[in-house]
Amino acid sequence: DPLVITDKDEMRRWSRAMRCQGKVIGLVPTMGYLHQGHISLVEKARGLSDVVVVSIYVNPGQFAPTEDLATYPSDFQGDLLKLKSIPGGVDAVFHPLNLYDYGAEGSKCEADPNSTNESGAGNAVSCLEAKGFGHETWVRVEKLEKGMCGKSRPVFFRGVSTVVTKLFNIVEPDIALFGKKDYQQWRIIKRMVRDLDFSIRVIGSEIVRENDGLAMSSRNVHLSSEERQRALSISRSLLKAKIAAETGQLNSKRLRDAVTREITESFGRVDYAEIVDQESLEAVEEQIASPVVFCVAAWFGKVRLIDNIEITVK
Ligand code: PAJ
Repeated sequence: DPLVITDKDEMRRWSRAMRCQGKVIGLVPTMGYLHQGHISLVEKARGLSDVVVVSIYVNPGQFAPTEDLATYPSDFQGDLLKLKSIPGGVDAVFHPLNLYDYGAEGSKCEADPNSTNESGAGNAVSCLEAKGFGHETWVRVEKLEKGMCGKSRPVFFRGVSTVVTKLFNIVEPDIALFGKKDYQQWRIIKRMVRDLDFSIRVIGSEIVRENDGLAMSSRNVHLSSEERQRALSISRSLLKAKIAAETGQLNSKRLRDAVTREITESFGRVDYAEIVDQESLEAVEEQIASPVVFCVAAWFGKVRLIDNIEITVK
């Protein structure tokens, strides 16, 4: 069985003891409610490192008060069972109650419909500040976090970069694994590690999908069966766009319009559908040439889903 560690100092002591034994430490950061996408990261970590740490922590610093922190799904015992059944298992599960300097109530952050978060990016705050608690140091990856998910979620990526920094400082891993499902997040973390000289190898891992194409996500559990069926328009239209691009349709706007239309016809509300450079994440507005990734975020009912597909044309 994996060792469950809840205290950050104990986590660091354990990691340092492993390091002293010459072990290569792999870290898979998660917010729990694990599915096959998370498990694939753990399996990859298993193959690349001697000891594997999975962190399970729903980070209030990356949720706006208008968002779904209060309803984010969790099942810690179920997560442990899933981790146990992985060949080779995991060595430690880091499951802190709280990673910030505030009382436990700060992690609750009930949704606040009066918050101006969605419109006014200027005074946007996370659930940490909304409760008036002390944290004030943030890591920002300025350009990469501006577009796509950063537009509708202005505090999201600084929350992610900051909590991942904290996890890196606590666990001190050699390797850290991230899914390309959250493509912008993965690029931001890679950039942050490079810019701030973390001595950590950041590995990206392919998107794991349900049999019908839906990208796995902890939030899928909140979709009604009808919404779930309609949400298939995202992966289906992205795959069509990839095939179209790879067989000569290089016009970015045409491709984006087709995806937006297909999702809208399935009653999805498109937040963005952008074709961007795989590294810089800069929008490709005209003709596709370099390797790009087609990224989509769309709402089905109260659930916001993201997906993407990499496209390389000759
Ligand atoms: P979470 O959404 O739990 O995801 C944890 C990791 O699993 C991320 O690297 C994510 O990209 C990856 N992942 C999720 N669904 C996937 C899928 N279908 N296929 C492949 N990988 C998938 O992302 C977060 O948590 C948080 O922002 C975190 C990085 C833990 C910081 O709080």
